Amino acid sequence: MSDYELGVIGAGNMAEAIVRGALGAGFLMPTQVIAADPDGGRREVVGHLGVTVTDDNGEAAAARRVLLAVKPQMMSDVLADIAEHVRPDALVISIAAGVTCATLDEGLGGRGRIVRVMPNTPLLVGKGASAVAAGMRARSEDATWAEKLCVAAGGLGVKLDEALMDAVTAVSGSGPAYVFYLIEAMVQAGHREGLDTDTALRLATETCAGAAKLLAETGESPAELRRRVTSKGGTTQAAIEILDAAGVKDSLIEAIRVAAERSRELG
Ligand SMILES: NC(=O)c1ccc[n+]([C@@H]2O[C@H](COP(=O)([O-])OP(=O)(O)OC[C@H]3O[C@@H](n4cnc5c(N)ncnc54)[C@H](OP(=O)(O)O)[C@@H]3O)[C@@H](O)[C@H]2O)c1
Repeated sequence: MSDYELGVIGAGNMAEAIVRGALGAGFLMPTQVIAADPDGGRREVVGHLGVTVTDDNGEAAAARRVLLAVKPQMMSDVLADIAEHVRPDALVISIAAGVTCATLDEGLGGRGRIVRVMPNTPLLVGKGASAVAAGMRARSEDATWAEKLCVAAGGLGVKLDEALMDAVTAVSGSGPAYVFYLIEAMVQAGHREGLDTDTALRLATETCAGAAKLLAETGESPAELRRRVTSKGGTTQAAIEILDAAGVKDSLIEAIRVAAERSRELG
């Protein structure tokens, strides 16, 4: 039986980011990790982290803990492929968007203790926001281990009920796209006002990163920080009045509600 602490199924971008972060933080040692992927190129990239790589999913699935990091549409085939190799008492963590704990449990024929994680793409640069939900047979220490893995990979990990995963998907899963959308608009506007695109992009990007850091580090509410930038009769007030008149905040709230609804439908 395999002695690996973590077996990764699907050594793609997200898995690489998680393993890289966990190794960098000292949460796992390279010798404790085995990663399986059919793509030799991916095995080579992840192999450079010092972990064992294989094209045999069964070998990785026999580890004490298993990280399922394949695309959601591949999941049912992968579960059928690995079910007999998964230890009955293994911790099985899935990061596949929209694949429920019940689906994972059914696919594995009731083997393993299931935990579902919803990360987002900033995890690729060590600044993810990940939600962790305990599923069938999972003990509280299982969700805690998954949360620690997310934090080691970089960024935030929060434990919550699986019923809230659609809300998480809508807020933080799709969330980076809302921020990029805002940056696109800032760049277009900056360009129209005479800035070159590259300068506008660098200013807008750093502004979003800096505003998020200010929010996180001061502990102030976003409303209060916005109030502090908005002097009466000034430029920010003129801009916010246009956004309010156009109902931009209401549109964002409605967009996120629809994203959550879509997540429930896909699930
Ligand atoms: N990216 C995000 O924003 C995000 C956010 C939250 C959750 N997730 C979830 O994270 C998971 C991975 O996403 P990703 O962006 O890292 O995708 P990815 O880069 O495509 O990684 C998936 C890897 O799995 C491999 N694979 C395909 N079939 C396999 C099989 N039968 N057995 C083992 N490995 C197999 C793929 O190889 P091939 O390329 O050869 O097919 C690929 O290397 C997805 O389920 C996604 O829903 C992603």
